Amino acid sequence: MAFPDAWMNDLMSRNEIVSVISEYTHLAPKGGRMWGLCPFHPEKQASFSVSPDKQLFHCFSCKAGGSVIQFIMQAEKLTYVEAVRFLAQRAGMEMPEEVNDEKLRAEKALRDRLYAANLDAARFFREKLLAPEGLSCRQYLIRRGIDGSTATRFGLGYSPNDWDALYKHMSALGYKRDELIAAGLCVKGRQDESKTFDFFHGRLMIPIIAANGRVLAFGGRVIEGDDGAKYMNTGDTLIYNKRHNVFAINMMKGKKLDELIMVEGYMDVISLHQYGVDNAVASLGTALTKEQVRLMSRFVKRVLYAYDGDAAGQTAMLKGVDVLSAGGVEPRVIVIPGGDDPDEFIRKYGRDAFMKLRDSSITAVQFKLESMAKAVDLNTADGRQAFAQNACRLLASLEPVERERYVRLVSEKSGIRLDTIREQVGVAKPDRSGEQDARSLNPGTYRRPVSTEKRVRSEIMLLACMMVSRSDCAAIEQLEGFGDELFSDPALADFSRKLRSANSKGKGADLKLMIASIEDDEAESVSSAAAAAADIEDPVETARDCILAVRREKYEAEVRDISARAGEETDPAKRAELIKKQMELLMKLRSLR
Ligand code: UTP
Ligand code: MN
Repeated sequence: MAFPDAWMNDLMSRNEIVSVISEYTHLAPKGGRMWGLCPFHPEKQASFSVSPDKQLFHCFSCKAGGSVIQFIMQAEKLTYVEAVRFLAQRAGMEMPEEVNDEKLRAEKALRDRLYAANLDAARFFREKLLAPEGLSCRQYLIRRGIDGSTATRFGLGYSPNDWDALYKHMSALGYKRDELIAAGLCVKGRQDESKTFDFFHGRLMIPIIAANGRVLAFGGRVIEGDDGAKYMNTGDTLIYNKRHNVFAINMMKGKKLDELIMVEGYMDVISLHQYGVDNAVASLGTALTKEQVRLMSRFVKRVLYAYDGDAAGQTAMLKGVDVLSAGGVEPRVIVIPGGDDPDEFIRKYGRDAFMKLRDSSITAVQFKLESMAKAVDLNTADGRQAFAQNACRLLASLEPVERERYVRLVSEKSGIRLDTIREQVGVAKPDRSGEQDARSLNPGTYRRPVSTEKRVRSEIMLLACMMVSRSDCAAIEQLEGFGDELFSDPALADFSRKLRSANSKGKGADLKLMIASIEDDEAESVSSAAAAAADIEDPVETARDCILAVRREKYEAEVRDISARAGEETDPAKRAELIKKQMELLMKLRSLR
């Protein structure tokens, strides 16, 4: 979504960054900037700065940064377009509906057609479920214990067991073939591309609906036999990306919720709702993404995982709890005994039993510790030691108060004395795997200080030099070894390209506007560069040093990689080859020093 430059400039000047951010944290002037406590992580000393000249903010501790738009995205947990709308409302401006771009307008028109097509398809599937041909599907729902009112609430339907029933129906409603294919409702014939077939046949149809109530896509479950995949799902389309959506999030609107229960399957959600657990959602069969977390964080501050107890479910939860914390959402885990999924459990034991499981849900750390314990044999001394070592590494990454909570648990499980565990935690190398993820994620309400690796620091400084002025940038481009591929951080590489291309055109780059147009959280590294640009005295010389530093880091990493591989290589010829390459790299490195 690109907004017209003139409109964006107007939006930014009517939402002066200092006045906007002052509504979230107290700012005081010092050395040409405004300083305050960072709203995105707890701190006692101000490391959060706002530059009134550049209209950018930057936290020197957690590295959050960007324009007023990225600030609102993070502070209010909004998407890019929502943040723009938020600021437009704040300033009493109309959103530019009529975007002055033919291509954008055509895309918006097609998008509207896809929304309409999905809604009409949902109506068609619904009619078919209630029609005589929907009998087998209705019987399937009965077998699974899903009643009529639940089916209605979720808009369940049936896709007839036919080649092109939906295609014919939708064509009669005026939809074009291309629109139906773009919506994922129909497909071209595999042998004869001029033929058109329905995508779903003879399945129970489950509409996937956005928070704003629009039908985006469908999941379709087989109801008889096991021919084909159990579920077929609409692939990515112009209006649907499963990484950005959460099943049943539309049903959370208008509810006062403390938490969501996140399950794996559509049927788990439907079943839980029927039993009155009406805060259940599903993650649509992918690893949980930061976009999904951001979406959920608009509704709740806590998400309880209730995935299946199998290995896949466990692995998904181990990763997902970190994605949730990084997005500022408190994760907990509901452990379902006996290998049942939530649907099976609640049907066997009822709502109260499920709510008891909910009440004994565990924290993410507890869940990780349990899973570490499961991975070893605690009946052996080796197993207990391995468990204790892993567990202490995890505890070492926690805040002291939180750590103390789990020391006892680790001691009990491993049979090792409390003091010994405390001592081990003290010397253990902290497990930072969770934080790795956190770095690339939208900062939530808490976010730890980030230390950027050396190479990226040099890259940021290089981009900063390029930002100082158009002529400096031109001179830097001519330096030996310069190229966009020097940047290992894709956001920096992308910005470097855009900056150089803007500089080479007529009136040069408008940094403020360029940063405001970055739609992702990736504004961070770029805004770090913008923050650094102010203090650079000799940009071209500094850039020369940065280029050398980046190239050195790059070669050093390659040398490390090759020597590791050479160490493992058993074939003498291949090994000699690797060693030769390593020598060449070392020569190159020497020439850079
Ligand atoms: P499950 O196999 O656990 O499904 O997959 P389920 O919901 O318990 O299904 P029932 O109870 O047998 O009907 C969990 C989720 O993974 C995705 C779906 O979103 C499903 O709900 N999935 C699974 C697929 O997309 N395709 C498949 O073939 C299987
Ligand atoms: Mn199931």
